[in-house]
Formats: sequence, C-alpha cells, structure tokens
Amino acid sequence: MSLLIISASLNSDSYSRLLAREAERVLRLDGHEPAFLDLRDLPLPFCDGEKAKEHPNVLAAAQLIAPAAGVLIATPIYNYDANAAVKNLIELTGDVWENKVVGFLCSAGGPGSFMSILGLSNSLMLDFRCVIVPRFVYATGGAFTNDAISDSKIVGRIAECARATAHFAASLKLAS
Ligand SMILES: Cc1cc2nc3c(=O)[nH]c(=O)nc-3n(C[C@H](O)[C@H](O)[C@H](O)COP(=O)(O)O)c2cc1C
Repeated sequence: MSLLIISASLNSDSYSRLLAREAERVLRLDGHEPAFLDLRDLPLPFCDGEKAKEHPNVLAAAQLIAPAAGVLIATPIYNYDANAAVKNLIELTGDVWENKVVGFLCSAGGPGSFMSILGLSNSLMLDFRCVIVPRFVYATGGAFTNDAISDSKIVGRIAECARATAHFAASLKLAS
C-alpha cells in the first residue's frame, strides 16, 4: 500500500518538516515505504486555473500523489489556515486527490489556532471525498528544542496519527 508524506513549509528551518520526518521514521519502522514530497524541493507555479497545471513540477507532484492511498500533510499554520503552498498544490493537482485518506501534522505559533486545519480538511472531504483521519497533530514552538522534537506527547501523537492514516488507508483499500 502506497503512502505519501507532504512537507508543505517553504521555510528552510521548518518545524512541520520535523513532524513529517518523524512520521516517516515511524512508518518505516512499521515496514512501510512512504514517499516524501518536500515542497521546497519542487517549486510550483501558482494555480491560474489554466496552463499552470501542465508545468512539469506539477505533473511530478501529481505522479507522487496519484498512487498514494494515504497522505500525511505536514503544514505550518498561516493566518488561521494551512499555508498557501499546500493549498496551491491541491488547487494545481485537483482530482488526483479523490478518495484518499488524509492526515494532518501542523506546526503553529500558538495554541489559539488549533482548529485552523478544518477549512482545508473540509474542502478535501467535500471536493474530493477524502477521508480525514480524526486524529491530528498540532505542535507549537515549545515542542521543539535544538531542531528536534522534544515533547514526548507530540512524538506519541505523530505515531498515532501516522499509524491511523496507514490503518485507515489499508482498511478502505480492502473494503473497496
Ligand atoms: C505568515 C505567517 C502567518 C502565521 N499565522 C499564524 C497563525 O494564524 N496562527 C499561529 O498559531 N501561528 C501562525 N504563524 C506562526 C507559524 O505557524 C509557526 O512559525 C510555525 O512553526 C511555522 O511552521 P514551519 O516552522 O513548519 O514553517 C504564522 C507565521 C507566518 C510566517
């Protein structure tokens, strides 16, 4: 079963990328071989509703997303939402998201934006019939020390979210 982890932050010193790498570590420990898409490594044009979707990097991203039964999106919270880079990716790749299981790993500046991922998760659910994993990670700066995740509760939640995503994806694949 194919799994994909997307690291959406364009920040070179990103916390959410650490969440994504920890999820990858857990999934590999469990015997999965998740693909990893770091949006810093694949510059994308802005979605224009026209030709941008034919850009070679967009096609490369779509090729990674298409086979994945489960996708973990690691995103910064910007302006009470996922960041624009991941929304742009979804706008560009559209229907390739249909029927995926999607989990979220979020990093934010403070606790007040806890529900910010609901907009993107609702749109994936309503637009593309994605199944949203009802367990997500929300980490603030206090969870990190010296470029590592130092909060053991967050480490535990990443494992739970990653494993739930794999489990849901496998179960839905069996059922379909
Ligand atoms: C443009 C911008 C908007 C932000 N908006 C929010 C916000 O609405 N809520 C919040 O808790 N943090 C906000 N932050 C803080 C980031 O979520 C925080 O720095 C997070 O760690 C960024 O993720 P990253 O390290 O993976 O890039 C914002 C940061 C930036 C640069």
